[in-house]
Amino acid sequence: MKHFLSIADLTPDELHNLLDLATRLKAEWRNGGNKPILQGKSLALVFQKPSLRTRVSFEMGMVHLGGYAFYLSPNEVKMGGRESVADVARVLSGYVDAVMARVFEHQHILDLAKYSSVPIINGLSDYNHPAQALADFFTVLEHKGSPEGLKMTYVGDANNVARSLLFAAMKLGTHFTIATPPGYGLDEETIELAKTFSTAGAQIELFENPAKAVVDADIIYTDVWTSMGQEAEKETRLQVFPPYQVNQQLVSKAKPDCIVMHCLPAHRGEEITDEVADGPNSVLFPQAENRMHAQKAILVELLAN
Ligand code: CP
Ligand code: NVA
Repeated sequence: MKHFLSIADLTPDELHNLLDLATRLKAEWRNGGNKPILQGKSLALVFQKPSLRTRVSFEMGMVHLGGYAFYLSPNEVKMGGRESVADVARVLSGYVDAVMARVFEHQHILDLAKYSSVPIINGLSDYNHPAQALADFFTVLEHKGSPEGLKMTYVGDANNVARSLLFAAMKLGTHFTIATPPGYGLDEETIELAKTFSTAGAQIELFENPAKAVVDADIIYTDVWTSMGQEAEKETRLQVFPPYQVNQQLVSKAKPDCIVMHCLPAHRGEEITDEVADGPNSVLFPQAENRMHAQKAILVELLAN
């Protein structure tokens, strides 16, 4: 693994190895702390958008492993504005051992990888959020066992998070259903790509009706209706998405022991109710913690000698 840009780039074996490594690193951390295997290694965290989880989990992940990480705000780097993405990649390659970037345009992630001589980690783009999906399937593994044969239902906007979950589900043998309003579904290219790497018979099913999509689900997943960068569409989206709220009534149509997931930040009262977010099926906060454990696996894979 040279970079970590998309779940689509990983083989099922690489994905399983990352999940195994995350399990070991989490246990090690819980048993007194990680070994400093990234001592002397540095990670630049370049953000074009806000963050709580991605920033803190990558930074603390590096600290726990003996390395060093630092944050560069949207105002400092102005990637593609103050200087070209290619030049940012070339310059950072001379200073640090790896770069994590959160960008608007996915092309910026691809350009960083093209022009950098150190590993690039995608910390979310308008296209995908692979570190999130890895952590999410690690959470599924912990709470439900092997993802193979489980049913995950994503309800809401077919966005960056949904796309990475779909790719991971197909690679890990998880049945994936998605309920989206007309005009807000997955694009054909994503669906066709996902089908090419379906393992263990994993299938994707598209729905408009969330109540139908969640029948027998082991996992219900949702995300905000308006992603970062789509703020101008917020009012329209607030009109369209209310039937896609993950509330107790919807959860009751899935398996009784289903887990409810959300990448966070949540807009409580919109895509998810307090009752569900804080209820017995919710794994929202263990899920958020797992960002750190899963990303340590990415860091070790890319940076350990
Ligand atoms: N889930 C996630 O990526 O959260 P942040 O935007 O806070 O990093
Ligand atoms: N879909 C959301 C995810 C945030 C972690 C966004 O892009 O804003």
